[in-house]
Amino acid sequence: MQYKSQAVAKPYFIAAIGLFVGQILFGLILGLQYVLGDFLFPAIPFNVARMVHTNLLIVWLLFGFMGGAYYMIPEESETELFSPKLALALFWIFLVAGALTIVGYLAVPYATLAELTGNNLLETMGREFLEQPLPTKLGIVVVALAFLFNITMTVLKGKKTSISIVLLLGLWGLAVFFLFSFYNPANVVLDKFFWWWTVHLWVEGVWELILGAFLAFVLIKTTGVDREVIEKWLYVIVTLTLITGIIGTGHHYFWIGTPEYWQWWGSIFSALEPIPFFAMTVAYGASCTPWLRSTTTRTARRSPRRTATWLSMAPTPWST
Ligand code: HEM
Ligand SMILES: [Fe+2]
Repeated sequence: MQYKSQAVAKPYFIAAIGLFVGQILFGLILGLQYVLGDFLFPAIPFNVARMVHTNLLIVWLLFGFMGGAYYMIPEESETELFSPKLALALFWIFLVAGALTIVGYLAVPYATLAELTGNNLLETMGREFLEQPLPTKLGIVVVALAFLFNITMTVLKGKKTSISIVLLLGLWGLAVFFLFSFYNPANVVLDKFFWWWTVHLWVEGVWELILGAFLAFVLIKTTGVDREVIEKWLYVIVTLTLITGIIGTGHHYFWIGTPEYWQWWGSIFSALEPIPFFAMTVAYGASCTPWLRSTTTRTARRSPRRTATWLSMAPTPWST
């Protein structure tokens, strides 16, 4: 670890792993309930186990993203975190809020939970993945904003690299699209339309930017490949992700009463959606191989000795 404040990432990673184990446990309960119809009934009904399973997924991913950002940003920005204390406080707030929400799902019927937590003030519950009670949703927004403040201030006071800018774009996008979880129009078509803004534009939009930034960072650290090369790919991935991911949202609009043109837009652009994933795994990999590097960058030509070292190390078809 180059910077002391990177250590705040540790509890985040531990929590992410713990919650992931919880998710798998509830996945196994779900699977068993398919096989043995009354397994754990009535203590944990299928719909409750399912909600716990998917909500744990969201929470551990958020812990992972936050921990990853706290670890990566100081190294990228070449400065300590703006406030490690805030990062630690947010960790405990988020963990306690998350745990209370899960306990709420398991301890009381969902309708009672909705009543107890003020769903009548602003009706946001009852939609898959966005089942969280209002106080939890508000808590997520507060934690996300304070986290973004901490990370953004760190980048502002330090070095600004393409990787940290892409990460910030992804994280800010994640927070902005979560705001659509508060918008729940009575018209079901409208509701579904905007519900996908959170669900699809997270998974197939901003999460990919976050993933792309982390992957770029890890590749630079583990392979020693030039930042210049990785950053070039990162721009390609960001562009592909945003073009295919945003218009590709249409693949959810086929049967919800939206205009017919969505069938064309949704089909074509969602067919292109795997390309950024492909680019991330294969193109990043390729950019680490000497053959492609030497043809795409001048750097390899400038330092043939380093290229030769890579040639001997890279176990890829191109290097043989
Ligand atoms: C032992 C491992 C797992 C088992 C047995 C399992 C089982 C299940 C079951 C039975 C469902 C409900 C399907 C239905 O409603 O009919 C489900 C839903 C889901 N699981 Fe898992 N799961 C596992 C791991 C995971 C992991 C690792 C992830 C993601 C990281 C995941 C993400 C999801 C999601 C997103 C849904 C909701 C799908 C939808 O609504 O379309 N699961 N899982
Ligand atoms: Fe989608």
